[in-house]
Amino acid sequence: MTGNIIKFLREKEYISGEALAQKLSISRVAVWKQIQGLKDMGYEIIANQNLGYCLVSRPDLLIPQEIQRRLFTKYIGKEIYYYPEIKSTNIMAKEKALHREDGIIEGTLIIAERQSAGKGRLGREWFSPAGGIWLSIILYPQLPPSYIPRITLMTAVAVVKAIKICTQIESQIKWPNDILINEKKVCGILTEMSAELDIINWVVVGIGINANIDIRDFPKDIQKNTTSLKETSGKEISRVKLIRIFLQEFEKYYEKLKKKGFPSILREWKFYSHTLGKKIRVDIGEKIITGEAIDINESGALVLKKEDGELIEIISGTII
Ligand code: BTN
Repeated sequence: MTGNIIKFLREKEYISGEALAQKLSISRVAVWKQIQGLKDMGYEIIANQNLGYCLVSRPDLLIPQEIQRRLFTKYIGKEIYYYPEIKSTNIMAKEKALHREDGIIEGTLIIAERQSAGKGRLGREWFSPAGGIWLSIILYPQLPPSYIPRITLMTAVAVVKAIKICTQIESQIKWPNDILINEKKVCGILTEMSAELDIINWVVVGIGINANIDIRDFPKDIQKNTTSLKETSGKEISRVKLIRIFLQEFEKYYEKLKKKGFPSILREWKFYSHTLGKKIRVDIGEKIITGEAIDINESGALVLKKEDGELIEIISGTII
């Protein structure tokens, strides 16, 4: 409902309470209440006795109505659950993903201004203060579970493209899912799923982008290896615009992936790769393997050439 009122406030410089009441088929008291609600959210609205209401400024919040305005996707982000603060958008998305039969649709977005218990890979904490972009996308792909690494890789390409289009900043992908700017992490991706032997039930792709965060606000131990878009560009970026562009890029690549177009996505991934050609050490859980990252194969696995020349494929691990 508040979404509609914002739409009408945007259309004209001033709009009377009476006109709003008519358009929304509600009473003028209800209009007034909604205006108060918007003011509480940070919208600056002035009221002139003769002319009516005028929207002066919008808050820098990730309100669904703001994101969906001029969002040109078919289904990604068409349904958005917005929270000023929750534990973790991935946790919430996983709960919601179970309720497909209750109307949760592919492309549903969970987004929060802050996470009190943001999750990183391998059970790590993910620092998620206000100013960042913390969101999760629910997917129901009709693909085999072996496609999960490909979904993570295509998400990374969509993030890099969106950052470039929105801010002109060049970033790189560190296998499998870190986005770096000048060797420092600006974004992480956490893909979680539920699957049977040969079919995926649901996938939740969680994306955390350090957008408008001051580096000195990060915990000391990660400050050295972390950056934010604000830090890199020297100014605040429009989070709403970046999310919109990201969702569009995400849908484009996801559609391509579903139509067996991974080879071309992989070519782009390699173009943005920070990993290929480097001597690296990969922690695969039970051991650490050293070698040269020579390729990413058709299923998204990292191909490592060990010192003895043996080639091994790593589906999941962390570069250390
Ligand atoms: C990583 O360890 O690099 C992955 C970090 C993923 C963080 C994002 S923020 C939005 C979503 N919700 C979470 O709790 N985690 C992911």
